[in-house]
Amino acid sequence: MFQAPLLDGIPREIAAVADYEAYARRRLDDNAWAYLDGAAGDELTRAWNRTAFDRLALLPRVMSDVAGGHCRTTLFGHDYPSPVLLAPVAWQKLFHPEGERATAYAAAALGAGFILSTLASCTIEEVAAMSRQAGDGARWFQLYLQPDRGLSGELVRRAEAAAYAAIVFTVDAPLSGIRNREQRVGFQLPPGVDSANLLRSTAENGQKPPPGGSAVFDGLMRHAPTWRDLEWLLATTRLPVIVKGVLHPDDAARAVDLGAAGIVVSNHGGRTLDTLPASLDALPAITRRIEGRVPILLDSGIRRGSDIFKAVALGASAVLIGRPYIHALAAVGPLGIAHVLRLLQDELEATMALCGVVRLEQITAEHLYDHPARRSNA
Ligand code: FNR
Ligand code: LAC
Repeated sequence: MFQAPLLDGIPREIAAVADYEAYARRRLDDNAWAYLDGAAGDELTRAWNRTAFDRLALLPRVMSDVAGGHCRTTLFGHDYPSPVLLAPVAWQKLFHPEGERATAYAAAALGAGFILSTLASCTIEEVAAMSRQAGDGARWFQLYLQPDRGLSGELVRRAEAAAYAAIVFTVDAPLSGIRNREQRVGFQLPPGVDSANLLRSTAENGQKPPPGGSAVFDGLMRHAPTWRDLEWLLATTRLPVIVKGVLHPDDAARAVDLGAAGIVVSNHGGRTLDTLPASLDALPAITRRIEGRVPILLDSGIRRGSDIFKAVALGASAVLIGRPYIHALAAVGPLGIAHVLRLLQDELEATMALCGVVRLEQITAEHLYDHPARRSNA
């Protein structure tokens, strides 16, 4: 696996989150890049995730007093400096020698939330230890249901024991999308990168590390979660359970009725099924249906502070970012992730100030130009 040396500090020309992408591309080989950057099918959903934000214009209010403004928020009892969390991203040793430990370090240093993937290349316990060492930010654990419910339960127990604050149950990827970019390079995990939390089960089931992209899901993720599995999960843990990968308001309502503590409106960054709607476009119907009963989070396509503002205007309590922080991790390491979080917070605060609001709760669809979710016709 080719890896150019990490950049020594943050280059001056990196002024926006998207500027990290070109640096990451130069540092990663074709195998890792196809996995990170690719999406399902013709990658239309991946593109729509961006156009949904780009075509939405803001409608500012001028001459408000914005002294004392901030974008801090509280989620499931924890305080966060901004409504941006680091999404679960599998096998981060593909992108940095320290993998998820590097990400946990950056998140904890800033007090930001980090969601560790079931398919992490560092263990649940290693990541918790690093997180504690760096300031103990809130970490959540993302669960992919395993073919064996005992093993799923064991993962949850380990997350609880290591003081993870929530379980994120990802339900939209029981199998891999058709990812042509991965197929074309014959994506595989290089030596030294594996699913560190599943090694025992992998050995017991006779599963080998994947020789090709889809084998990952045929092997490690072969179990499609059902509503009964959600009920089981809710009964087996006292941690809040947040269901990730919901696009239909009926599914969101059913999950909340069963006891889910939150929903992540997500199309998995366009990586599972192509021609799903942009997450942002699916958001308003879900926030309307849930009526504030639980926090609604959103991911897929967030690249700017103004994107976060738009998601909040349509009812999101917080957002997750995926590829952008991995670009920074690959280019610079944990410092890059901290920089990305800082850039997004600065941009969000600037957007809030220029739109005349001082708190996230004040951001509404009234700040969107000509959007159907607006109450008035201004
Ligand atoms: C992901 N995502 C993901 N989601 C999840 O629940 N478990 C996982 O293990 C992974 N793994 C993963 C790997 C890679 C390389 C990417 C890019 C994404 C999806 C992720 O959590 C999130 O939904 C998207 O990345 C959001 O879209 P953006 O921010 O990348 O546009
Ligand atoms: C992915 C899986 C691991 O998006 O969630 O690659």
